[in-house]
Amino acid sequence: MSWATILDARALAPGAIAPIDDDWIVWRTRTGALGTLPRRCPHMDFDLLDGTVAGEELVCTGHGWCFDVDGHAGKRNVLGRLDAKDDVVTRAVREREGHIEVAGVRR
Ligand code: FES
Repeated sequence: MSWATILDARALAPGAIAPIDDDWIVWRTRTGALGTLPRRCPHMDFDLLDGTVAGEELVCTGHGWCFDVDGHAGKRNVLGRLDAKDDVVTRAVREREGHIEVAGVRR
């Protein structure tokens, strides 16, 4: 697997979201886990770079779909119940020697 350095790890604090390029974002959960997602929400194409991180999920500003670091998608109702949506592809991501690195798409 080929890894590419994209960011200094200090630039992505817990709860932060950053672009990888025009098509992908990288984000960090509140507990520090790293995730990647396609930049356009699969629901109606809102930019997930404008989303918010709530706990271990990235939430789209469009209509509230949420995503975890494994690409599982869903939408929570007002009581917190998660209704699953189709999973999205992600890219392998890791933190190594103070940098964040990404690799190819994983399914
Ligand atoms: S565009 Fe993301 S939830 Fe609708």
